[in-house]
Amino acid sequence: MNRKVSVAPMMDCTDRHERFFLRLISKNVLLYTEMVVDQAINRGNKKKLLAFNINEKPVALQLGGSSPKLLAEAAKVGEDFGYDEINLNLGCPSRKVEKNKFGACLMKEPNLVAECLSKIQSKIKLPVTIKTRIGYDDIEDYESLHNFISILKQTGINTFIIHARKAMLGKFTPKQNLNIPPLKYEYVYKLKKDFPDEEIIINGGIKSVEEIKLHLKKTDGVMIGRAAYYTPYLLADIEKEIFKNDEVPSRQNVIEKLIPYVKEELKKGTRLNQIMRHTLGLFHGQTGSSHWKRYLSENMCVREADVKKIDHIMDNIKYTNIQARVG
Ligand SMILES: Cc1cc2nc3c(=O)[nH]c(=O)nc-3n(C[C@H](O)[C@H](O)[C@H](O)COP(=O)(O)O)c2cc1C
Repeated sequence: MNRKVSVAPMMDCTDRHERFFLRLISKNVLLYTEMVVDQAINRGNKKKLLAFNINEKPVALQLGGSSPKLLAEAAKVGEDFGYDEINLNLGCPSRKVEKNKFGACLMKEPNLVAECLSKIQSKIKLPVTIKTRIGYDDIEDYESLHNFISILKQTGINTFIIHARKAMLGKFTPKQNLNIPPLKYEYVYKLKKDFPDEEIIINGGIKSVEEIKLHLKKTDGVMIGRAAYYTPYLLADIEKEIFKNDEVPSRQNVIEKLIPYVKEELKKGTRLNQIMRHTLGLFHGQTGSSHWKRYLSENMCVREADVKKIDHIMDNIKYTNIQARVG
């Protein structure tokens, strides 16, 4: 699996519609689902939670949980649905998550995590990976991180995605936890030096192709979160400059290709805003961008959007482009 550049799991963002949209821009990035809790899969509506469009592939399913049995069961369901990788969330710091004992608080229990990873691997053939932070609360020394990774490595997993800031458990809001603890990329670089045979993926605050290129000199892959969501056309530059693929669609082509998908989804009962809200940032940095955002916000990103509006969307793109040219 090519993990050179991936788009991070993001709750309320990387749902199947966002992934379909991003895949229209980039053939090569690896996409992750939002975190799905093991119990939700085992007890809930599996199809609603896990079904996805084949064109989204490759897609990794991120699980949350801390019971080896429940996680392994959920991972097997994920494998049967056709996902390409199972990732365990060891980095989410929210209070709700901590109460249910999954996410970053599991960094306190490396042996339990190792048990989970062994059990998952015994049940499925897919690659199993983890996503974690560099530390938590006042445990922020490199040795603790090194020790954590050493224990997990013994289970046989060999891909580690590291968000290069610590988590403040129960103290910060999720948003603060994404911004306040300082990024320490050198921890991730050192992990790669100390574990040269493992695949080490770096994450946190990476926003441009130039930055990606620098990180790729010292790690095996880069995971992009917010920049991919808010400025999705960044993936076109990644496609060209990192994957050396010159055949990237224009922004207009992306919407043209999205329309048949939207129409199919509307027939199945998906609401227009559930898809179109993900495209707000498509024209980011272009002169027509504010027109596009306003058009979407007023017409399509409302709960009961008029589905016929989709038939006029290309006129609006043309207008957006004209605005860009005259502006
Ligand atoms: C809205 C949002 C939701 C997130 N949800 C998840 C999640 O479900 N699982 C996870 O491991 N990380 C989650 N994260 C963290 C991201 O995966 C990523 O580690 C973080 O945003 C740092 O990368 P960035 O600076 O490139 O955004 C979320 C981040 C955001 C902004």
